[in-house]
Amino acid sequence: MAQHVRGVIARAKGEPVELTTIVVPDPGPGEAVVDIQACGVCHTDLHYREGGINDDFPFLLGHEAAGVVESVGEGVTEVAPGDYVILNWRAVCGQCRACRRGRPQYCFDTHNAKQKMTLLDGTELTPALGIGAFADKTLVAAGQCTKVDPAASPAAAGLLGCGVMAGIGAAINTGNVGRGDSVAVIGCGGVGDAAVAGARLAGARRIIAVDIDDRKLEKARSVGATHTVNSREADPVEAIRELTDGFGADVVIEAVGRPETYRQAFYARDLAGTVVLVGVPTPEMNVELPLLDVFGRGGALKSSWYGDCLPSRDFPMLIDLYLQGRLDLDAFVTETVGLDDVEEAFARMHGGDVLRSVVVL
Ligand code: APR
Ligand code: ZN
Ligand code: ZN
Repeated sequence: MAQHVRGVIARAKGEPVELTTIVVPDPGPGEAVVDIQACGVCHTDLHYREGGINDDFPFLLGHEAAGVVESVGEGVTEVAPGDYVILNWRAVCGQCRACRRGRPQYCFDTHNAKQKMTLLDGTELTPALGIGAFADKTLVAAGQCTKVDPAASPAAAGLLGCGVMAGIGAAINTGNVGRGDSVAVIGCGGVGDAAVAGARLAGARRIIAVDIDDRKLEKARSVGATHTVNSREADPVEAIRELTDGFGADVVIEAVGRPETYRQAFYARDLAGTVVLVGVPTPEMNVELPLLDVFGRGGALKSSWYGDCLPSRDFPMLIDLYLQGRLDLDAFVTETVGLDDVEEAFARMHGGDVLRSVVVL
């Protein structure tokens, strides 16, 4: 039986979001209906509602979520009703070239649920990132659900579904930060702070946070930064060198997504160090680097998409570390709000004080 529940939709480009009634059908083969308990408010949701991703309006927003599986369709073995799960963007196929080469994070052929949720008048909804979790319930592919320990609070757990995982993964997966490393993180919003937390988890010795806003630097300290640099006041490349005995950092994580900060990351790394770009640039951005410097410095220039995470490996692991007090996910939850407060949460996003607003249901 299809169910009528509340959902937050973006009806048309640039219009404020709207809390309305949506229709969630029963799960088909390979699908699950999840009772959403919490969903973080991410820049990407705002980007959808501004028309910056595509024109497939109306969107059902929300994609950083945790909840309980309510029902599953035919053939589902991954999860069962009652399982506490974190949702991820893509159910990987297991068969494409990327999957076969052991890089399912780059799967070309994801098997997300078919778009079947609608408005009351039958208009099809496009779920943000294939999820759509600013809703009492949502329909996803069972492969988008990863079971984790139900002792973790939904507000904290849901964060692993997107930005916080991107940051932690940029450090522990893409950057491969090791015990004793020096790490610099440029840009300390939610993603950069999560990279700081990831570096701490990995046993980094020095974690240098760089931002242009002192409030951000203070927050970065609270999640594990050992040093901070305000790059409006000091040259960050010089400062990072000084803080690393003149060498530069073993791993530099760029979490802004701009040419000038990428350039800083490039020059702030140790010879043979690694630069990880996790900030998302826009199409018109270019960066020019002397090729001789690329050649002469060795090391690795990497980018990190969704923290190179494998949900089935990383979500349960990080939740256990959280429950053991070794990863403070609660530090990323600035406020909890209701389903009717998403538009206001968007407005607060750029104020500088909010890491994450989380809708709790
Ligand atoms: N140098 C250093 N820090 C900067 C600079 C700069 N030139 N410009 C901006 N920042 C800081 C901001 O002060 C802020 O703390 O970068 C941080 C960006 O944080 P948010 O806007 O909160 O973004 P966040 O959610 O962390 O995402 C960061 O990753 O996922 C991508 O699209 C996302 O590109 C974005 C990036
Ligand atoms: Zn997101
Ligand atoms: Zn695949």
